This record gives sequence, structure tokens and C-alpha cells, in this order.
Amino acid sequence: MSNQNIDRNKRVMVKVPASTANLGPGFDSLGMALSLYGWIELGVADATMYELHGDGMDGLPKDKSNLVYKTAQLVFQEAGVSIPELSIKMYSEIPLARGLGSSASTIIGTLVAANALIGSPLSSQRLFNMATALEGHPDNVGASLFGGIVVASWDGESAHYVRLTPPSELDVLVAIPKFHLLTEKARGALPSQLSMGDAVFNIARSSLLTAALASGNLELLQYAMQDRLHQPYRAALIPGMVKILDEACENGALGAALSGAGPTMLAFVDKNSDRKKQLSLFLQETFAAEGIEAELLQLAACTTGPEIFSYQLTETKEADQSFMQRVKGEIKV
Ligand code: HSE
Repeated sequence: MSNQNIDRNKRVMVKVPASTANLGPGFDSLGMALSLYGWIELGVADATMYELHGDGMDGLPKDKSNLVYKTAQLVFQEAGVSIPELSIKMYSEIPLARGLGSSASTIIGTLVAANALIGSPLSSQRLFNMATALEGHPDNVGASLFGGIVVASWDGESAHYVRLTPPSELDVLVAIPKFHLLTEKARGALPSQLSMGDAVFNIARSSLLTAALASGNLELLQYAMQDRLHQPYRAALIPGMVKILDEACENGALGAALSGAGPTMLAFVDKNSDRKKQLSLFLQETFAAEGIEAELLQLAACTTGPEIFSYQLTETKEADQSFMQRVKGEIKV
């Protein structure tokens, strides 16, 4: 392995979107990128160093067991390049363990940044396969990698997908409860078998949902987002979820779902609806009635995938201090 051609002064910063997975019935197969972001910067260093900003970053390891370090090394291995010591900087506005794809965005941001650092030898499809192998399912990573809506399958080696441009009228409200729910725990609540009736119920809705999103037939969402595969089994972990699913449409939503493995609840709403306030209040008050504080965010679909910014270190110290200014766009790269 060689690193002779790696530019030691090159820094690559990637802005990567959050995502919501499943969209109701499309368990492990439908995802959508959201306008909430993480930023990851990578460069070659003499000794591995970290600069981590944002909620929950304090608890992350700052050695070679860190997910970013390990994921970057996978790219270098695949490409036959050796870069054992890395400068790693990260900031994220994506809350951890809430069903908004924070780990998927970290994986995608890292794969894309590491690949760009060495001249992008790996294709997007290869990065998608690597990301899906790491996550175990393609929905969140596909959305973060390609932007928009991603319909995907995974056979254990290859992820196959179609990317759809989200209907332009679609806005997204998310109610993010102030508690963490690890995906492992939410997956542990699922049964190992389903009835044929429930399987048919979900196949019909997931297909209808994909077609409704592709054709912009948004009045179908209220039917097409129903699910019998995972949400009912996760209900006990998310007090208020069932009421939100049952009543969101009466309160102005086009459709509603558990975002990924939860606990965040997601409601689609028409961009021009005058009932967004009513819907926000309904989501927040439903959680409040269960004694749960929830943050409400109005988001949009993110239609682009990761954005890559490259720059050269000129004076190391100054550049090291300016990562957050670059994130905030105060320094153009
Ligand atoms: N499809 C996944 C799930 C998304 O629902 O468990 C969370 O990572």
C-alpha cells in the first residue's frame, strides 16, 4: 500500500444530510434525505487528532476505535492506500439515537470524505455497498448518499436502488422527543415472523407509497403510509405514537410515520397548508400528554446528496481553528 501521491496539505470537508427511514411501510427499504446536516472534515496528520463539536460528541472515543476513523480506513483499504494517521473534525446538528439517521450520515460523510481525500477512486455504488454492509440496511445510508427519496434493496453484498425526486409540495414536520432510543432496542421489539395478511398489507402500501411519491399523488399518503410490520411492535417504546399515527391527518398532515426506528415522529404536510401550526401543536401536545418534551422542527427534503469542499492548508494553526467558521459558511472553501 502506498501513500506517495496523497497530498498532506489537502483537507476535505463533506456536508451530509440526515434522513428518515421506512416512511411507514417501507421497512429497511425506503428513505428520504432531510434538510438537517452533519459536517465531517478529514486530512492526513502526523498523529490522529479529533475536533468534535455538537451534542453528544463528548462521549465519542478519540482514538482509532472511533467510527469515523474505522470507516475512513475501510475506504483506504479498498483503494489500496495507507493513511494511518488522520485529522478528523466533525460537527452535527442531527440528534443522536432519535431516528434521524445520525450514524448513517456519519458513515456516508466519512466514506465520501475519505474517498475524496484520495482522489475519489471508489464509485458511489461501491460506497453505497460499503455503507449498507456497515449499517445492515440501505434506507438511511441511501438517502444520505444520493439525496431525495431512495427506494432500495440489499442482498447482503449489493444494494440496488432507484432515487426519486421528492414532490416539491412536500414539507416535513418532525417531533423529536427528548429521549434516546437505540436502533438495536427498537429492532429487538420486532417479531421474527409475520402473518401472510400483514405481509400483503405492507407490500401493497409500500408499493402504493412509492408510486404516490413518484407521481406526486399526495392525497394517497394517508393510506399508503400505514404499516403493520414494525410500528405496532415499537409502540410501547414511544408513548403517544399510536395517537399521532391515528390522528395526524385529522390535524392537517398528508401522512405520518415513525421516523426510522424512532422515537422521532414524522408528518408530511403540504408546503402551502395553513394547518402547519395546528399540526405542530398536535404533535407536541400529544407527546406532552405522555410527559415527554419534544422539539418540533419544520424541515424539507434535501434533494442533493453530500456536498464536498476541498481546500489546502496554508498556515496549519489558522486553518485548524476555522473548521466551525467553514461549517457556518463564514469562510468559503
Ligand atoms: N429501517 C431501520 C429500522 C431504520 O426501522 O430499524 C433505523 O436504522
